[in-house]
Amino acid sequence: MRIAMIGTGYVGLVSGACFADFGHEVVCVDKDAGKIDRLKQGVMPIWEPGLEALVKSNVERGRLNFTTNLAEGVDGAEAVFIAVGTPARRGDGHADLTFVFDAVKELAHALKGPAVVVTKSTVPVGTGDRITELFKKEGAPAGTSVASNPEFLREGAAIADFKHPDRIVVGAEDESARQVLREIYRPLFLNKAPILFTGRRTAELTKYAANAFLAVKISFINEIANLCEAVDADVQEVARGIGLDNRIGPKFLHPGPGYGGSCFPKDTLALLQTANAAGVEQRIVKTVVEVNDERKATMHERVLHALGGDLKGKRVAVLGVAFKPNTDDMRDAPSIPLVKGLQDQGATVAAFDPAAMGHAKDLMPEVEFTNDAYAAAKDADALVVVTEWDEFRAIDLERIARTMKGNVLVDLRNVYDRAEAEEAGFDYSGLGRGR
Ligand code: UGA
Repeated sequence: MRIAMIGTGYVGLVSGACFADFGHEVVCVDKDAGKIDRLKQGVMPIWEPGLEALVKSNVERGRLNFTTNLAEGVDGAEAVFIAVGTPARRGDGHADLTFVFDAVKELAHALKGPAVVVTKSTVPVGTGDRITELFKKEGAPAGTSVASNPEFLREGAAIADFKHPDRIVVGAEDESARQVLREIYRPLFLNKAPILFTGRRTAELTKYAANAFLAVKISFINEIANLCEAVDADVQEVARGIGLDNRIGPKFLHPGPGYGGSCFPKDTLALLQTANAAGVEQRIVKTVVEVNDERKATMHERVLHALGGDLKGKRVAVLGVAFKPNTDDMRDAPSIPLVKGLQDQGATVAAFDPAAMGHAKDLMPEVEFTNDAYAAAKDADALVVVTEWDEFRAIDLERIARTMKGNVLVDLRNVYDRAEAEEAGFDYSGLGRGR
């Protein structure tokens, strides 16, 4: 199968490389000439485990190519995936579809024959209909059809998620599109991955509903963690106790400093806009957005409290700034309001992150970034764990305690065991782990 992938961001690049790995012939198209040049040389634009090796091996086999020329990229393609960004529009939170429609317009003129055009970007309900209309208006070849195939991969586990999905959702309005997508996903089909064929609008909404539901789970457990703190119960055990119920499930019940990243914050807002336009209330998602915003904005207060109510002249070491481990992504990271809150209260902040410091430097100009966790903790009054990188789990707590001036450890990811931390000399506080 000959596939074109428009957009080489997270979703586009990972999907393109994985499709090539399935044996398809894939051309990835992006307007950013520098990025395409670097990709041709095997230099990845994002930090994602396993991606570089996957890209290189498929480029070597001649199955994966990169170009800035859309017409050349889509020439002869049976399927063209659109995987460009759909950021939240400033001001109202609507998904900004400028990049999608720009690509569609260009595509309408570039296609020489009919193809199945598939949105992989997260797009609001009805976008497929608008693309269909635009194709008609711009005179795309007759028989061009539009399908929706939302992507559910997580950053940091993107390749594994793509190759072993819980399900594949395909929204199409005609049999030829279903046929093409069935063929593209055949290797996963053979691996028994469930493929769900739905209408196009249903597939578009499924993506938002999935992300919103996961955001609900996270905010729910965060609020239960708050309650655990007040009533001296342990949220980890509560999460296990409820998660073993198959109807609830054990995943996404880890309390934290609030969800961040490029998807949940943007997609929950966009879902609210869709609901608003449809005149239907979504009170649960609306509340989740508020709960999460407030959580992120108040995390620094935990450090303030642990340090006795005054941060002036205090030095705080932050472990992890990426919005989650195994990524260098800083978008909507909870570390950003946390660090700002600490600095606004007069603290100086040192930080270490295994991958995200390059991006973080611009966002946190006053922070002293160090080469490892021990250097960040040196002379600090408090140590705050913000991102649960595996290497922080392996830290020598006694050694790090010795390098510090104070002994406060605020563990916003419940990485450490309280007893072990206390044995190492720390005054430990986690999330929802009793008083
Ligand atoms: C999320 C979804 O998990 C993917 O299925 C989806 O495809 C993707 O968005 C997308 O729409 O593209 P991602 O943003 O990469 O993936 O990261 P997650 O692992 O879902 O984490 C999101 C945020 O929730 C992080 O800040 C994380 O720390 C937080 N989280 C997650 C918790 O606080 N607790 C949990 O139990 C799980």
